[in-house]
Amino acid sequence: MRAKMTRRAFCGAMAGAAGLMGLPLRAEDPAVLRAQVNRVQIAPPDYGPTEVWTYDGRLPGPALRVPQGARVTRRLVVDLPVPTSIHWHGIRIDNAMDGVAGLTQDAVPPGGSFDYDFTVPDAGTYWYHAHTNSFEQVARGLSGTLIVEEPDAPEVDGDEVLVLGDWLLTPEDAQFMEPFGHPMRLSHGGRLGNLAGTNGTWDHARPVARNARMRLRLINTANARVFVLRLSGMEGWAMALDGMPLTAPHQVTGEFVLAPAQRIDLIVDITAPEGEEAVLLRLDNDDRWRPQARFPVERQASLSRRDPPAPLPANPRMQVPGIGDARSLEMVMEGGAMRRMSGAMMIGRTMGFREMAGQGQFWALSGQVGMTDQPFAQLHLGETVRLRLVNDTAFAHAMHLHGMHFREVRADGSLGPMRDTILSYPDDPLDIAFVADNPGKWLLHCHMLGHATSGMTTWIDVS
Ligand code: C2O
Ligand code: CU
Repeated sequence: MRAKMTRRAFCGAMAGAAGLMGLPLRAEDPAVLRAQVNRVQIAPPDYGPTEVWTYDGRLPGPALRVPQGARVTRRLVVDLPVPTSIHWHGIRIDNAMDGVAGLTQDAVPPGGSFDYDFTVPDAGTYWYHAHTNSFEQVARGLSGTLIVEEPDAPEVDGDEVLVLGDWLLTPEDAQFMEPFGHPMRLSHGGRLGNLAGTNGTWDHARPVARNARMRLRLINTANARVFVLRLSGMEGWAMALDGMPLTAPHQVTGEFVLAPAQRIDLIVDITAPEGEEAVLLRLDNDDRWRPQARFPVERQASLSRRDPPAPLPANPRMQVPGIGDARSLEMVMEGGAMRRMSGAMMIGRTMGFREMAGQGQFWALSGQVGMTDQPFAQLHLGETVRLRLVNDTAFAHAMHLHGMHFREVRADGSLGPMRDTILSYPDDPLDIAFVADNPGKWLLHCHMLGHATSGMTTWIDVS
């Protein structure tokens, strides 16, 4: 009885809060995603709202939830002063729907629209974001979540998407710091923020019950920040990475890392007592742990604790066969501050680093700056590829392949989890392997978006 009362009081409070903030009541998952300018309260209230670019007025954009195998149709309508397009990150998608302006489609001009229409073969936690000038457009807010539900989802008391953001705002009035492509940032760690938060606010809190079992879907939408996280007041298991289920849930004991664009699905049991809170903590640069998302414990759910969760059902095509005689490729990341790079190929000719820098370019992939007419690799449909990533820079890079997931091939030959974005550390080469089973033109780039725009973008062709 008591729990019921509290629950009703809580719902009432939430409705009141929504009314107070004037949030319009409308479907969370619209058929039309309207890219537009809005003002959203990201920073603490004394700063006032920040002017952001959103999908449909929401930051993060509308939470799309669809069943596995479904056909997804959404119309992008551009109500912005600039052209844009949507990329469906991590979806093994039809190439024509991949949303990469200049490669798979033309950017959609202001006033224009584009109909995205694709199916989602894999269950899991995905996201969508602008892929036109993404270093600026994603930083301004153009991203949202795409959850593909398993037919047999594990039983939980709540399923929460936690969109981790990292905003670089002016300290005076909390507007986006410009320019977005600041050379100092592009050539170093990228656009790192000065305000981190979750689901569009600096202080995300969600009431829970003690002993509740929650599924938490973490998505790092930051431009450059590598989140270092840990759990407090809850016991958790990693269930999936980048949408793809782990063969066995992995108990989270210490800190874990989430690079830009990466996702992790956790199942957590709230262990903090009533009146206290469970917290997702992040490690800040000053070496202090601060709340990234809070879960105040408001009541008791059940007295008994549960067994550890069973693994999520596997997605189709998670095997990477034939690594032994795979085609071998190597990609060397070069450039940036604090390392010497003499120069690289750019727009069809060799350029010194100084000249590159003069044009806002600081990085190269295997001696090539940015996109060219020729792909980095021409692959045959169905072949297995082993790609060595060599990081000759002084920075970590979150390397992302469109269209296909890959697995790390570890030194002992064992395979890592299947993912679409992997963090490469300086002077620590790593091998990834994948089956080139999705035909089309696929980007391969650093998801520190400032790096991607200043040289670290290339593409492969599968045909
Ligand atoms: Cu999430 Cu090419 O990007
Ligand atoms: Cu990078």
